[in-house]
This record gives sequence, C-alpha cells and structure tokens, in this order.
Amino acid sequence: TRPKALAGKKVVVTAGPTRERIDPVRFLTNFSSGKMGYAMARAAAEMGAETILISGPVSLQVPKGVKRISVESAEDMLNAVKTEYPDADIVIKTAAVADYRPIHAHSQKMKKQAGGSTIELERTVDILQTLGQEKTHQILIGFAAETNDVAHYAKDKLARKNADYIIANDVSEAGSGFESDSNRVTVYGRNGFERIFDMLPKEQLAQQLLGLIVEREDLHDS
Ligand code: PMT
Repeated sequence: TRPKALAGKKVVVTAGPTRERIDPVRFLTNFSSGKMGYAMARAAAEMGAETILISGPVSLQVPKGVKRISVESAEDMLNAVKTEYPDADIVIKTAAVADYRPIHAHSQKMKKQAGGSTIELERTVDILQTLGQEKTHQILIGFAAETNDVAHYAKDKLARKNADYIIANDVSEAGSGFESDSNRVTVYGRNGFERIFDMLPKEQLAQQLLGLIVEREDLHDS
C-alpha cells in the first residue's frame, strides 16, 4: 500500500465507550479505553485521509491530523455520526456503544432508600444498523466484541446491519479486546471473505486493517 493511499478520502471513526446517565453523578458504561479506535484514526490520518474521530469519554490524546468530536451518550454519538455520514467515504465503528440506557435520567442525585432499587432500561438506537439502512456509497465497517461463537455472531452482524466488513475480536482472550494495548481480530467481508490477523499492538493492527480495506476496495488509484 502506498503511504498516502487515502488522500482525498473522508474517514469517520467512532471510539471509546458511551455513558448513559442515571442521575447527575452516576451512569452506565463499559470498559472501552478508546485505544483501538484512536489507533484506527491515527492510521487513517497517516494514510492521508481527512479523519473525523467521534469519541466517547476517554483519556487519550487526539492523534496528529485528526479532528475529534467529543460525545457522551449513544444518542449524542448517533447524531454526530449522522452529521458526518453523507460525504464520508469510510466509516469505522470501533466504539462500544451502550445497547441500553435508563428510561428516566433523574435530574437530581438519587437518595438511598431502605431495600433494593431497580433501574428500568430501554434500547438505544443501533447506530451501525441505521448507517447500513442509509448507505449510499460509504464503506461501512463495524467491530464486534464477542465472548463466544465469534464467527457466527460476526457474520450475522455483517448481514443484518448491511455492513461491508465486521472486525471481530474475542474479548475473553487475555491481551485482546477492551483496554489492552494489543488485539487479535478476524475480518469478515461480503461474499464470504474472511481474514485472520495475528495478535498485534493496536497501532500496528490498525495500519494493517486499513491496508486491507484499501487493497480490497481498490482505493489506491483514486
Ligand atoms: O477501546 P478499547 O479498550 O481499545 O477496546 C476496543 C473494543 C473491544 C471496544 C473494540 O475493538 C470493539 O470491539 N468495539 C465494538 C464493541 C461493541 O460494541 O461491539 P458490539 O458487538 O456490541 O457492536 C457491534 C457493532 O455495532 C459495533 O461496531 C458497534 O459500534 C455498533 N453498535 C452497537 C450498539 C449500538 N447501539 N450502536 C452501534 O452502532
């Protein structure tokens, strides 16, 4: 791959967790550190792309040449992604988006009461699926964090969400997935495409993953 293979392309990357508020001091979230998404954004910028990083709350530096848009909730992320989507060429959904949020976010701090308590949840909008439905020319790439039957669930997500690629990581493997500096993934694409990557530092893996997309989608000539 030529170093500036993505010159003239707009790449949108989502990264990190979302926070779904319970009250002003509490929220539901997950263990995403943002490392994988930030590595994808850095690699895209290094390959010459105009790179927009839509990020949940994490404590990482913005990679050089990348424009970051900070968001908090799944709903914020959906809105930011939809704004950037129409003229995007590649969208990479590395974020670990909450699937549920509290139905009611209390405006004041909840007080302790005798006995237990229940928080009622509702589904958030599936951003990847929404993008899949509204796809015109974009190359749509999702990640899948699974603990079992990785291939089965990844292929299912590819079809159901109208994605072009699903990058699956087994998050139960040590040194892979959430928070670690390395990751081991398998990429699933249209027409039964499948490629296994070795365990690699996330920075290096991101370069290889984008290299694969450039090669498969014939982006070097544009
Ligand atoms: O941030 P790190 O600590 O480096 O960890 C990286 C990672 C493990 C978070 C990352 O590699 C990863 O797997 N991200 C996707 C995690 C995830 O939410 O997987 P999922 O199987 O629940 O979702 C599948 C896809 O749908 C993802 O692209 C996700 O962004 C998207 N999704 C999910 C829910 C939702 N409401 N909207 C979405 O768009």
